Amino acid sequence: MTGSAGQVGGELLLELEKKFSSNDIVVSDINGLDKISDDYEKIILDVRNYDLLKQIIKEKDIKYIFHLASILSAKGEENPKLAFDVNMNGTHNVLAASAELGVDKVFIPSTIGVFGPEAQKDNTPILNSSRPRTMYGISKFTAEYLMQYYFERSHLDVRGIRYPGLLSYKTPPTAGTTDYAVDMIIHAARGMDYTCYLKEDAVLPMMYMPDAMENTMRLFDAPLKNLRYRGEYNISAFSFSPGELAEAIREFVPAFKVKYKPDSRQKIAESWPRSLDCSDGVKDWGFKARFTIREMIRDMISNLQK
Ligand SMILES: NC(=O)c1ccc[n+]([C@@H]2O[C@H](COP(=O)([O-])OP(=O)(O)OC[C@H]3O[C@@H](n4cnc5c(N)ncnc54)[C@H](O)[C@@H]3O)[C@@H](O)[C@H]2O)c1
Repeated sequence: MTGSAGQVGGELLLELEKKFSSNDIVVSDINGLDKISDDYEKIILDVRNYDLLKQIIKEKDIKYIFHLASILSAKGEENPKLAFDVNMNGTHNVLAASAELGVDKVFIPSTIGVFGPEAQKDNTPILNSSRPRTMYGISKFTAEYLMQYYFERSHLDVRGIRYPGLLSYKTPPTAGTTDYAVDMIIHAARGMDYTCYLKEDAVLPMMYMPDAMENTMRLFDAPLKNLRYRGEYNISAFSFSPGELAEAIREFVPAFKVKYKPDSRQKIAESWPRSLDCSDGVKDWGFKARFTIREMIRDMISNLQK
């Protein structure tokens, strides 16, 4: 696993433990590995280092790669050159090395950031992902093309999901546009007011982390012959705005108050769809989500308060 020390990495490790022994998992990241249990073999890897990446694949006899190393939307707008480098060159390195060395299967998450402002806003289908405007979206959209390229050129089995905003109480988000949702729930659980950096009515597609991880493995395990797409599968459990989330939180924390002070992330949010058409994932590999918004909030607040 690359980028293992991030928000998704910690949660995906818990999911992988259901399928593999921790002795069989090699975790890597450019930094932050001290946060991860010593049950795993840990290697510092900058995914832009092609030679080291190839050396690890060979020496550790890597069969599957979960490539999570990435610079996300908000951080990518602060440093577009870095986002291009990590998201494009890092991802190309993983694909080229996997193709060359015969890795069995590669999973690379994509994002709702691949959609641009001209895309359909509601129930947006997979092939509507035109003209993303952030460096994150541009690089992830191109990565989806690279996945198709290596699938056709080298028969590399590479798969991916466009994650919506992911909410988790276990690992904090770092640099995305949908992070407010986790922050808002954390503030409510601690009895604190919250100031939101998006407008009250900015609706975005979202999902609870356990659902995202279960569906990651569902796609990973699906027969290749059933998959009509590579990295482009849309998934989302529900859509909400900050105002709607705050209202839903008040069922559990009635005194919860939110102020709105939009910053540059509002523009990013406005360029993304409000909801997604997830029917291709349902058809090809059985996408389904278990948690409603209410169940997610209840689960997050009760765990945070513990
Ligand atoms: N978290 C979300 O809500 C969300 C939504 C959509 C898509 N995704 C996708 O999921 C994947 C994981 O995202 P995340 O939320 O865990 O992000 P994150 O920012 O929490 O973690 C990314 C990790 O990549 C590492 N990294 C950065 N540059 C690196 C480099 N050069 N070499 C090696 N590692 C490097 C960072 O140290 C970090 O630990 C990404 O592909 C992201 O695009 C996440």
